[in-house]
Amino acid sequence: MRLAFPVEMAPLLLMQTASNPLREGLSNRPQPKPCALVIFGATGDLTHRKLVPALYNLAADGDLPPGSVIIGFARRDKPDDVFRKEMEEATKKFSRQPVQQELWDHFAQNLFYHRSEFDKDEGYTALAERLDQLDKEHNLGGRRMFYLAAGPEQFEPIISRLKKSGLNNPGAEGGWARAVVEKPFGTDLASARHLNEVVNDAFPETSTYRIDHFLGKETAQNIMVLRFANAIFEPIWNSRYIDHIEITAAETLGVEGRAGYYETSGALRDMVQNHLIQLLTLVCMEPPTDLGADSVRGEKVKVLRSLRPFKNADDVKQHVVRGQYAAGAINGQAVPGYREEQNVKPGSMTETFVAMRVLIDNWRWSGVPIYVRVGKRLPKNGAEISIFFKQAPSVLFNQQAPGSDEVGANNVLVIRIQPDEGVSLRMQSKLPGAALRVEPVKMDFQYGASFGKASPEAYERLLLDAMSGDPTLFARRDEVEEAWQFVDTIEQAWHGTTDGTATANGKPADAPTLYGYAAGSWGPAEADDLPEQDGRKWRRF
Ligand code: BG6
Repeated sequence: MRLAFPVEMAPLLLMQTASNPLREGLSNRPQPKPCALVIFGATGDLTHRKLVPALYNLAADGDLPPGSVIIGFARRDKPDDVFRKEMEEATKKFSRQPVQQELWDHFAQNLFYHRSEFDKDEGYTALAERLDQLDKEHNLGGRRMFYLAAGPEQFEPIISRLKKSGLNNPGAEGGWARAVVEKPFGTDLASARHLNEVVNDAFPETSTYRIDHFLGKETAQNIMVLRFANAIFEPIWNSRYIDHIEITAAETLGVEGRAGYYETSGALRDMVQNHLIQLLTLVCMEPPTDLGADSVRGEKVKVLRSLRPFKNADDVKQHVVRGQYAAGAINGQAVPGYREEQNVKPGSMTETFVAMRVLIDNWRWSGVPIYVRVGKRLPKNGAEISIFFKQAPSVLFNQQAPGSDEVGANNVLVIRIQPDEGVSLRMQSKLPGAALRVEPVKMDFQYGASFGKASPEAYERLLLDAMSGDPTLFARRDEVEEAWQFVDTIEQAWHGTTDGTATANGKPADAPTLYGYAAGSWGPAEADDLPEQDGRKWRRF
């Protein structure tokens, strides 16, 4: 185990972090070496809630390369110790494991703050000097990672100044310079292409890491292991045996003070273009030839290229349902409607719910519908992928019960991405007793119970992978562009444009309806019609 803390603290660390089998994962990544990590947008939400807590947890587990330094870059003026205090409070609030003061104090010694505007050259000249100095003091070998966690409008100014100041160059022998770019990566295909040009003009594709935090979730990584490390699934993983697939991501939370962003995004851009489409590619891809980043991502891109595009507004109307939450109740608590939320325009046309039927035109998936559903203010939190296998023939035990329209039940393999991470298989079993009654039962695997450990947070894994130079779990340029291309036709049908500015301009005359749904319900009734038109139902969880 590598330690980022003094040797005398080792017993304390080992006691709380016995080696974690969940950490091994898919990657063959080499051990990362210490580096400087510059976080742009250091006073923002993501840094407080996710990034610094993830870095602390890596350090507490002995996974952060010792000597690494973290530099928060933001516009507000504050000395290092004020920044450290703020980060300490945030980490105590959001860390997955309790913060130990001694460990934190040691971690915080390598935490610094750099004040600058994002678009002022001087700030980057000063940053370069500071990095050179830290490099010498900590023996960092010119290894530098620039994490863009600022607002997306700042991405271009930051990247262009990193280039202008030469910070995009690997510098010292053995050094490297990498850019990690947060979502949203563009607002449509045109803007994503432009951003790709800007980023790749400063950082080659091999040094560009586009974050999709769903890919860092243990259960998302386990999709490939489940499919390709078990001989029983792959032979039946196709249209001959699979009836349909459902991917649902439900949240009880509303827009939570993020309306400024969400009003220009909506559920389709916020969750579908990235997270859900990424899950879909993992479930539907062909086996890669090896686990190299390009082999895996190459197979995912093939799925994206096989998605059947929506041709026009009518096609979108037929296959996609959008909704917006109205006032309602979650767990018995009254909550306001989306349009009453702070900073939401009273007549907002932003969708907080999307359900769609997706088809993949290739040999494996021909004719297998994939129902995708995502929403805020739904009754439960959870993300699941359900694989519905075809029913056994209606003979012997699967005959229709008198008076019922149900014939048997499908075997369903459910991959629970979160919470309660695990995999279950529903199958038919004989009810004990003299009568021959068949009932569905569930075989269940739970990560927590099997491995006795909580999974690390997605950001821990992704930060470590980027430090190690392993881009497998990051979206490649063509993946992002293909996903936008698919989503753009839907935005176009809804708003008449694709770039997220149109919500203010009303909607095209033939735009599909934006349906309301009560907070705490499973979205508009029209969403249920989607699978029901095909004789199927959403799985209730
Ligand atoms: C983010 C979206 O990318 O993912 C949020 O912007 C959403 O709207 C979040 O709530 C969900 O992620 P998680 O990991 O909290 O399920």
